[in-house]
Amino acid sequence: MSSTNTGTLGIAILGAGLFAAEAHLPALASIASKGQVELKAVYSRSEKSASVLAAQAAALGLPAPPVYHDSADAKTNLTALLARADVHAVIVVLPIPAQPAVIRQALAAGKHVLSEKPIAADVATGRTLIAEYEAQYKAKGLLWRVAENFEAEAGHLAARRLISAGTIGRVVSFSARTVGNVEKGSKWWSTSWRTVPEYQGGFLLDGGVHTAAILRTVLPGRITHLSGFASLAREHLGPHDTAHVILKCADVGGEEGAHGVLELTFAGAPGSGAGNGVTVTGTKGWLHITTGPGVIKIAVRLHEGEEEVTEYPTGGVEAELAAFATAVSGGKAEEGGDALGDPFGALRDVALIEAALRSGGGPVDLDALLGGAC
Ligand SMILES: *[C@@H]1O[C@H](CO)[C@@H](O)[C@H](O)[C@H]1NC(C)=O
Repeated sequence: MSSTNTGTLGIAILGAGLFAAEAHLPALASIASKGQVELKAVYSRSEKSASVLAAQAAALGLPAPPVYHDSADAKTNLTALLARADVHAVIVVLPIPAQPAVIRQALAAGKHVLSEKPIAADVATGRTLIAEYEAQYKAKGLLWRVAENFEAEAGHLAARRLISAGTIGRVVSFSARTVGNVEKGSKWWSTSWRTVPEYQGGFLLDGGVHTAAILRTVLPGRITHLSGFASLAREHLGPHDTAHVILKCADVGGEEGAHGVLELTFAGAPGSGAGNGVTVTGTKGWLHITTGPGVIKIAVRLHEGEEEVTEYPTGGVEAELAAFATAVSGGKAEEGGDALGDPFGALRDVALIEAALRSGGGPVDLDALLGGAC
């Protein structure tokens, strides 16, 4: 098993897609500049995209990392990367269907793993992966976390603190609106594996788990039941692009749990995301979360008071990566850092989307879908 003992944590990025380049690489560069981690290698299925990512790393001031890719070459393929003793941990940011096999390979090679959300394409796959990790790797001291930047956002954590401190009273209802307009040929759609998704939900899974993660982060009780309808409005977004869901939370402290609604579509019209956000209503007031470019705004309005708005710069990807690196190195986590990246939390987010897709209007018991896994 790898261990860092003293010194910086050696990290490899497995995957060279948009999110690896635009989110993980800058986060890594920022943390590397503080001496916490070192980028040791990059891997992609194709040599070309791995080389592009390595060049992007160098452009951010990181030492140009060696490139690994799919081949039968014992020096440059993934097996070779995972055999390196100076790589202690890997960030897995591959297409959703390709993630579980690579997570398994990395754990089997004794690497700590931070894998991108969703944890898996469906609840069954995610449950199996968690069971394997718990049985085979956890006791060996290997850490596996699922990167869900929305649960690590300072703005969402602030909303959680305000709500749990009773600022808006007892939570009675909530609503979340995530309306996007994903055009054919647009940047994210063009990522080849999204154009023909082999997994349920398409963008509803990939983007919808973020909204599920906000609700999981800020609401006082876990979501236990839902009922919804899902459909496909625009062919290029298949298999589903739209879901409307009613959700119910567990009781908290002897009080009946809140219920709320979720509006989720990537088939909106241009500009129709204008009203997006999450509203949580309590007996004393309400809290509203909106996300703009680079900023999360938390507005709190009490019944007999002014609206108070606080802005938090976004930085969830860096926060989760820093918390992961700290945990692997055995350091003391920042407040809340220990709770980040829990695979069970990420599994609940997938369960919410899976249930919304399958409900057909009927009630779904999420705890039953999760099989008591979490
Ligand atoms: C890497 O190459 C070696 C030697 O050909 C081979 O045994 C191994 O299976 C390859 N690994 C992968 C992941 O393709």
